[in-house]
Amino acid sequence: ALLDRIAATQNLQDLESVRVSLLGKSGEITAKLKSLGSMDPDTRASEAPKIHALREQVTDALTTRKAALENAELERRLAGERVDLSLPAPQALQGTVHPVSQVMDELAEVFADLGFSVAEGPEIETQWYNFTALNMPEDHPARAMQDTFYLEPRDGEAEPRVLRTHTSPVQIRTMEKTPPPLRLIAPGRVYRSDSDATHTPMFHQIEGLVIDKNITLGHLKWTLETFLRAFFERDDIAIRMRPSYFPFTEPSAEVDVGYSVDKGRRVVGGQEGWMEVLGSGMVHPRVIANCGLDPDEWQGFAFGTGVDRLAMLKYGMDDLRAFFDGDIRWLKHYGFRA
Ligand code: PHE
Repeated sequence: ALLDRIAATQNLQDLESVRVSLLGKSGEITAKLKSLGSMDPDTRASEAPKIHALREQVTDALTTRKAALENAELERRLAGERVDLSLPAPQALQGTVHPVSQVMDELAEVFADLGFSVAEGPEIETQWYNFTALNMPEDHPARAMQDTFYLEPRDGEAEPRVLRTHTSPVQIRTMEKTPPPLRLIAPGRVYRSDSDATHTPMFHQIEGLVIDKNITLGHLKWTLETFLRAFFERDDIAIRMRPSYFPFTEPSAEVDVGYSVDKGRRVVGGQEGWMEVLGSGMVHPRVIANCGLDPDEWQGFAFGTGVDRLAMLKYGMDDLRAFFDGDIRWLKHYGFRA
């Protein structure tokens, strides 16, 4: 009958009160155990094993019932909490390709068609690679042309390292380790302490370098024209080369691209005006020699341009700082599908 009471319980609370009524301080079985003390020895000898056996049976029955009730409770909850697959799913935000990455890819594609490979270099540079090897010896005034971030000097370091101010050090690194002929581009991040609507302290450049025999300014002009036409996807692109100065090229030229005005916006193509898009020139013989090559045997041209600038021109963006704000509305507006 005791066991029936246990089996009849319908939930964990009922079971607990049955347990207390049997095994608790004033429970029925507890009382039987206590009564053993007042029995005469013969009765006790015969009763004790029965009472102990009963207690064991009850304890087992309680444990079994408890497990069964817990299991039933779990089943009930699982049935109640079933996932409703017919509910509409919350809208997941989908990532897009950042305009800078997109434009880097477009540039790499255009140059790949011209037989250029892609080279890379570190963003933390020694002054040798960022300046000296590029024909900007110490206290050369050209070092002041670029607002440089200097790193804290490390122990035993002769000159502090810098955040590279341009992608031109990749020219040196590649010429040092790869025998010419060379045809490469080097896209990447560069740093200058400068910030306004058209300058951010970190921005992106793409460097171009060709080293071969009998390379002339004509090759440079053709390459730039071909690249700009392919990148801006217009055949009517005109370029203009203006004499300029870079320590690592001689002669040097700044390159302007013709634009026209469409609904108040400057659009590349046509010839209503000119705007500057890149720096270029014939690699200085001293730079070639600094890389261990014979400048009488090898010549070449180089150019460098701002990727962010090219993106702004191609896609009509007006504030460079927006590129790096991470504003999701801007990213959505200009975001490119993966
Ligand atoms: N490194 C130059 C700059 O950042 C650009 C450049 C590259 C000019 C290669 C000439 C040749 O302004």
